[in-house]
Amino acid sequence: MSTRKKIALIGAGNIGGELANLAAQKELGDVVLFDIPAKTDFAKGKALDLEQNGAVLGYDVAITGTSDWKDCAGADVIVVTAGVPRKPGQSRDDLVAINLPIIRAVADGAKEHCPNAFVIVISNPLDAMVYEFQRRTGFPKEKVVGMAGVLDSARFSLFLARETGMNIKDVRAMVLGGHGDDMVPVLSATTVNGVPVSEFISKERLDAIIARTRVGGGEIVKLMGTSAYYAPASAAIAMAESYLFDQKRLLPTAAYLDGQYGYKDIYIGVPVVIGGKGVEKIIELKLTAEEQEMLKKSAASVQGIVDVVKKSV
Ligand code: APR
Repeated sequence: MSTRKKIALIGAGNIGGELANLAAQKELGDVVLFDIPAKTDFAKGKALDLEQNGAVLGYDVAITGTSDWKDCAGADVIVVTAGVPRKPGQSRDDLVAINLPIIRAVADGAKEHCPNAFVIVISNPLDAMVYEFQRRTGFPKEKVVGMAGVLDSARFSLFLARETGMNIKDVRAMVLGGHGDDMVPVLSATTVNGVPVSEFISKERLDAIIARTRVGGGEIVKLMGTSAYYAPASAAIAMAESYLFDQKRLLPTAAYLDGQYGYKDIYIGVPVVIGGKGVEKIIELKLTAEEQEMLKKSAASVQGIVDVVKKSV
């Protein structure tokens, strides 16, 4: 049996394809692109294209397409994008009825075949889908996370970099809370290389940038007719690398809260240290009264969807 790492990508669509591309180029391990039976050939074709890409770009990992969970067996990392993306005019929460049975099917497959994996959920509505995945599998909470904060923070960073005219590499932004339009940008943790952004940007412009960040996903859905995939895939790969290489990066992550920030039994975006054990630490920032209020509102929206999920059997 190969001792290479194995990365199972559940959903071989737009994000799944880009995840496979990045995982292969970074040679994180062998890649399995899993999709529903009707899409087996599509997944196989994408896998073959990506394997051939290695001959040009100079990487060599096995990439396979499948609809058989057995091929995912023993995966070290699973990234879940199974489900439908948003269409213009839809909110992430509108997807719950369609994506809930899908996440349950994926959870059952993962439970049977990949019990030791570190799982990163991307399917929307994110915070509720990752909650349901963990609840249904019973996997250790530190091994099941949701990807949202890295992406939301990246969007915020881009807008801040463009506004200041400074290099995006020096912008450090932090967006917490649920992956919805009431997400919480934390200005005290948002700087250009340590210098508070308020030194460079007026309150009025910052408010406009925060408003744009909150609907940053929707802006792309409106333009493309479907949701973003390059930045979401890169964000999840950064989380996967932190786990695989025990990098202990501090990344905003949808993690299970058991009292942190005053919340219990909920997945929501918070700063997390991801290392070889998964979620190794949840960092509790000192939030301002206004930020606490925003987090409360965001947590209430997430709880509303989770309640719907819990009621549906
Ligand atoms: N198991 C595996 N794959 C599935 C299942 C299932 N039970 N049900 C659907 N899929 C597959 C679809 O066949 C499709 O190929 O998931 C894939 C999703 O791909 P896209 O439609 O291209 O969607 P994508 O843009 O990748 O977004 C996926 O991530 O950001 C979220 O809101 C987005 O929930 C959506 C998800």
